[in-house]
Amino acid sequence: MAIIHFAASGVDRTVTIDVAPGERRTLLSVARDHGVPILFNCEAGGCGACLVHVDTVAVGERPLAPLTEPEKFLLQSMHRLTEHDIEAAQQRGVPPHVRLACQYALGDEEIVVSFMSDLGSH
Ligand code: FES
Repeated sequence: MAIIHFAASGVDRTVTIDVAPGERRTLLSVARDHGVPILFNCEAGGCGACLVHVDTVAVGERPLAPLTEPEKFLLQSMHRLTEHDIEAAQQRGVPPHVRLACQYALGDEEIVVSFMSDLGSH
């Protein structure tokens, strides 16, 4: 089960979903299913429109989902992460908090997702 607290200007919404083993549910797909206005465009990790900040709720929780290859490439291109950030995160076993909602695959976790919405900036 994933518990997601979405937070943005004009948005304060908690969504709880079951993710079946082997099922790939992304943050963006869940947000869209529940009317949470995360901006998006390509839905393929290529544009950066769905940039979000993800935090775990409690220390000791399941770590954040690992970075995907499209996230590594695009977040570096956008100067949101450096190669050093990615290597350091891998060594610590703690993925970065800056993520792409269309690439972040949910598992059993409770997270807070902050983002820019089309309702205003935060
Ligand atoms: S919608 Fe384009 S990178 Fe996520």
